[in-house]
Amino acid sequence: MDWGKKNRMDRIIRPDGHTLMLAVDHGYFLGPTSGLEKPRKMIMQLAPYADCLMPTRGVLRNCVDTNIDIPVVLRVSGGTSVIGKEILHEGITVSMKDAVRLNVAGVAFSIMVGSEYERDTILGLSQVVDQAEEYGIPVVAVTAVGKDMARDDRYFALASRIAAEHGASIVKTYYCDRFERVVDTCTVPVVIAGGKKLPEMEALEMAYKAIEAGAAGVDMGRNIFQADNPVAMIKAVRAIVHEKATPREAYNILKANSRKKK
Ligand code: R5P
Repeated sequence: MDWGKKNRMDRIIRPDGHTLMLAVDHGYFLGPTSGLEKPRKMIMQLAPYADCLMPTRGVLRNCVDTNIDIPVVLRVSGGTSVIGKEILHEGITVSMKDAVRLNVAGVAFSIMVGSEYERDTILGLSQVVDQAEEYGIPVVAVTAVGKDMARDDRYFALASRIAAEHGASIVKTYYCDRFERVVDTCTVPVVIAGGKKLPEMEALEMAYKAIEAGAAGVDMGRNIFQADNPVAMIKAVRAIVHEKATPREAYNILKANSRKKK
């Protein structure tokens, strides 16, 4: 691997092999998501505890200070919305030239394996990989999943492996039972999305089980920024990702920090 790409990978995934990515890209299909109505305030208070930020270019340019010291994985797919008919049909929304201009450490693209539009999205991923490799930029492939699809290890292992086969350097997928199988059959590091907001203990248990199963980390959004105390929650997740904390120990960190002034 060339120095530039390796350096970017090393900035995203820390020396212990783990990463806490903070997903704040939700607005690209959800609009002003709860917790991210005013992205700047939320992002700037959480960024010191994250290893990496995952925004869109709009939020990056308008809501993130340029002197921030954190690698950025830029969302480069979209084109559909939560109220449209074809949410599982994203295309490329950002040129690699603009991603380079934004000094990103990586780019993120969603594929929709098993949907009517899987071919378009997998070809889109391949195109992004071709462009990103020219500049040594790692691609994070996100395995989006339709409402009526089975969320099991068979599906996530299939979608994750397909993403890796098409050149993704990291795969972002969802946690499921027998997650070891997803990690073991994917040839690149795997991180999990958090999904919809869960009770805090459940979110911490999910992060713990994912790490135990071999995940490189989490790329979590709503379970952090929609928590009652987002800073306390990201500290708790961080303890699981980097300090081998159990869910109970992490929960105690959450509670101890929640007592402090928000
Ligand atoms: C999904 O494709 C986007 O990247 C989401 O913004 C991301 O997965 C959300 O993270 P979470 O599910 O933890 O809110």
